Amino acid sequence: MAVARKKKTVARKSAVRKPVAAKKMFSVKTVKKSSNPLGLEKKAPGQFDTLQEIALAAHRKLPAPVWDHLMGGADSEMTLRRNRASLDALALRQRVLVDVRKIDLGTTLLGQSLAFPVFPAPVGGFLSKVHEEGGPAVARAAVSRGTTAFIATAAKPSLEAAQAAVDRKLIFQLYVRGDRTWIEGILDRVKAAGYAALCVTVDRNYYGRRERDIVSGLPVKEGFGDQTYQASLNWKDLVWMKERVGLPLIAKGIATAEDAELAVEHGADVVYVSNHGGRQLDHAQGSIEVLAEVVKAVGGRAEVLADGGVQRGTDVVKMLCLGARAVGVGKLLGLALSAGGEAGVARMLELMELEVRTALGLMGVTSIKQLGPQWLREVPVLGTPSSVSAYPLLEEAVRRSALQEDLLRSPR
Ligand SMILES: Cc1cc2nc3c(=O)[nH]c(=O)nc-3n(C[C@H](O)[C@H](O)[C@H](O)COP(=O)(O)O)c2cc1C
Repeated sequence: MAVARKKKTVARKSAVRKPVAAKKMFSVKTVKKSSNPLGLEKKAPGQFDTLQEIALAAHRKLPAPVWDHLMGGADSEMTLRRNRASLDALALRQRVLVDVRKIDLGTTLLGQSLAFPVFPAPVGGFLSKVHEEGGPAVARAAVSRGTTAFIATAAKPSLEAAQAAVDRKLIFQLYVRGDRTWIEGILDRVKAAGYAALCVTVDRNYYGRRERDIVSGLPVKEGFGDQTYQASLNWKDLVWMKERVGLPLIAKGIATAEDAELAVEHGADVVYVSNHGGRQLDHAQGSIEVLAEVVKAVGGRAEVLADGGVQRGTDVVKMLCLGARAVGVGKLLGLALSAGGEAGVARMLELMELEVRTALGLMGVTSIKQLGPQWLREVPVLGTPSSVSAYPLLEEAVRRSALQEDLLRSPR
């Protein structure tokens, strides 16, 4: 207390004497302290208390081009921002005086039970940029929290290693990078490895122009393998793949009622609403904006999953209200793996579960089965939606460290 009073007096005195230049008031020592408001360095990955800390720790660790690759989108990043804006344009309704001591978050996906309705979406090559064992690490973290994981074609070290790391059947996500013989080879491996389902991503027939990567020169511009095979895919190929692999089929990247109808007609067991986190077609609608029309077109004939802009438990709740059975996280997975490896991903999922539970408790909901559109209202969007706007502490910390850099650069 005494120290605090003394400091105050000094500040008052100097203010009275003469105005002090900003760079003097903020000595380097003070700025350094305030740039770490959350004391992150002291926290082990499993001990992050908030999702914001995970995002901030990842921001600290990742070189700028890698951060941009993870968090950026295609072209003008309109779809990326719409994913957030459309989530922010929905408010949750709340009912009170309901006994919410017990809340059931459990759901199922293709007959498998999930402890709560969130899963790591397929995130391919990025995982190996930030973790030597991306696939198995994500698989172990997801299964340890009682949910499933999508393992991407590009996940390292191999599709077999990810599945072998856990005793629960995971979902394999396919990008087509070769002719039918190539596809047969990979589908046979998927089946032999023991996966539960095949997910074919259908919204990447061209590689979106992610201009942050183009400008930074990060070597991911063209993805991997021969992209023309993916560009040639049609609905009949899906039917053939499902027959060949003999597993349930998930079509990922559906964004219209028309394609939802076709997906079901061509044997999709799961329709996965996604715009690839705004990384593919720019100026598409936000994911949650198209969810209701897809759910309606599917009409209960398949299960519906969704992703896009989900960074909070409340986002998950909104997606569930509009008919998603469970919700994927892409960027958040990348942030968590970057921030804390396998423990970071497990903690991120745990915090997501906590946020969903807290939101439902405050809404007066005791089971996710009670959710529906009646819990939502359209509202004006506040602020500027972006891939980090769900994390105000991160935005503030970035502003502060920009200020710090500015001060360190300016002549003394
Ligand atoms: C770095 C990164 C890599 C991705 N790689 C793949 C991939 O290999 N296959 C795929 O189907 N989707 C991929 N996606 C898309 C995600 O599966 C998911 O659809 C999207 O990230 C969801 O949006 P969100 O990032 O806002 O959560 C990737 C996304 C990111 C951010």
